[in-house]
Amino acid sequence: MHIGIIGTGYVGLVTGACFAEFGLFVTCLDKDEKKIKSLKKGKVPFYEPGLEELVQRNLKEGRLTFTTDVAEAVDSSLAIFIAVGTPPRGDGSADLKYIEDVAKEIAANLNGYKIIVTKSTVPVGTGDRIREIVSRNLKELVHFDIVSNPEFLREGSAIEDFMRPNRVIIGVDPESSSGQQAIAIMKDLYKPLYLIETPFVITNIKTAELIKYASNSFLATKISFINEIANLCEKVGADVHMVAKGMGLDMRIGSKFLHPGPGYGGSCLPKDTKALLKMAEEQNVELSVVDAVVRANEKQKEIMAKKIKDAMGVLKEKTIAILGLSFKPNTDDIRDAPSLYLIRRLLTEKAKIRVYDPVVRSLDLIAKSNELIANDSKLRALSSKLITYCKDPYEAAKGAHALVIMTEWNQFRNLELERLRKLLKEPYFFDFRNIYEPKRLKENGFKYFCVGRQ
Ligand code: UGA
Repeated sequence: MHIGIIGTGYVGLVTGACFAEFGLFVTCLDKDEKKIKSLKKGKVPFYEPGLEELVQRNLKEGRLTFTTDVAEAVDSSLAIFIAVGTPPRGDGSADLKYIEDVAKEIAANLNGYKIIVTKSTVPVGTGDRIREIVSRNLKELVHFDIVSNPEFLREGSAIEDFMRPNRVIIGVDPESSSGQQAIAIMKDLYKPLYLIETPFVITNIKTAELIKYASNSFLATKISFINEIANLCEKVGADVHMVAKGMGLDMRIGSKFLHPGPGYGGSCLPKDTKALLKMAEEQNVELSVVDAVVRANEKQKEIMAKKIKDAMGVLKEKTIAILGLSFKPNTDDIRDAPSLYLIRRLLTEKAKIRVYDPVVRSLDLIAKSNELIANDSKLRALSSKLITYCKDPYEAAKGAHALVIMTEWNQFRNLELERLRKLLKEPYFFDFRNIYEPKRLKENGFKYFCVGRQ
């Protein structure tokens, strides 16, 4: 079977490469000619473990092709996946411009029955909108079905998540005469997952669309909840890891996503929680829990900055070493990363910053991705003066007054403590991912601060 994937961003490329690995013939399309040119050579423009190998293998075996020509991606495909971005607008709602453009282009090239599947995270009702746009722009009268098939891929382990998902959600229009056919095609595409008994949830399109937002918002809820409990733990003398363990053993609660930290980041949880709030507001429905989750997350980032300030006093002229920029390990994505918030706060305090991340290697990227810095000419000027990019954790620590762990990359878990202690001018150690044992750090002469433990 042939399928087409529109959009070779993170979701599109992982989906395309994994479906090709399942044995399907996949054509991935992007407007960006430079990107397609380098993908044709097997070069993946972002960091995701295992993806480049998968792309190269399937390219070589002829199951994966790349193009900038919509007709090529649509012509022989029975299913066309839409995997373009839905960036946030100023008010938090999702911008559907790219989705709408793609719907028009698909319509103009539709030459027979096909299913049009949304993989992108889209507000409830987008499936109907796509159907309308496609119907209005059809060149020849052909039948098609709209399907919602949201993705649940985590950056850094996206291939594993695609190959061994907890569930596959398929939303189809219950009124469509060919709805059963659309479901059968989707099941066929995901056939290898039957062998590992993956649950399939078949529902209507709006429900499928909402499942995605509700899932991400619930994950964010767990994180904000445990972060607030961690803050309480510090005051009352409890250990948040034990609290999380004790809670998580209750099967109704579950142990995942109860790890405290400097706040959740990335391109999904922050964006999707806000988009869900916007959707609810438009329907006059109050989502007070999600609202509190978003506010708690903003506060958590500030609480981390305050921890540093409270411990060290005036930060002007002090040098802070930051280990980890990406919003989590195994990705080079720094969108909405808590590290960017901290960098901005330190810059406003006029502290000097030495950063190291195993994958994020460009200071330029920091300025660009951190809108708050990019839009503020004073901060922008300060950032080029005050931030130094270092080649490893030890170089970052050299001459710094404090070390801050912002991302739990594996290579930060076993740092040479004695060496670090000697390199630092003052022994402040802020472990905002709780990857060290407080007792051990104190024994090594550090003034150790973490999240929710004594
Ligand atoms: C998230 C969801 O987990 C995926 O299921 C979903 O498909 C994806 O969004 C998406 O919508 O595309 P992702 O953004 O890659 O995936 O990252 P997560 O692993 O969810 O982590 C998000 C943030 O929460 C990170 O900053 C991480 O450090 C933080 N986090 C996570 C915690 O602070 N504590 C935890 O216990 C777990």
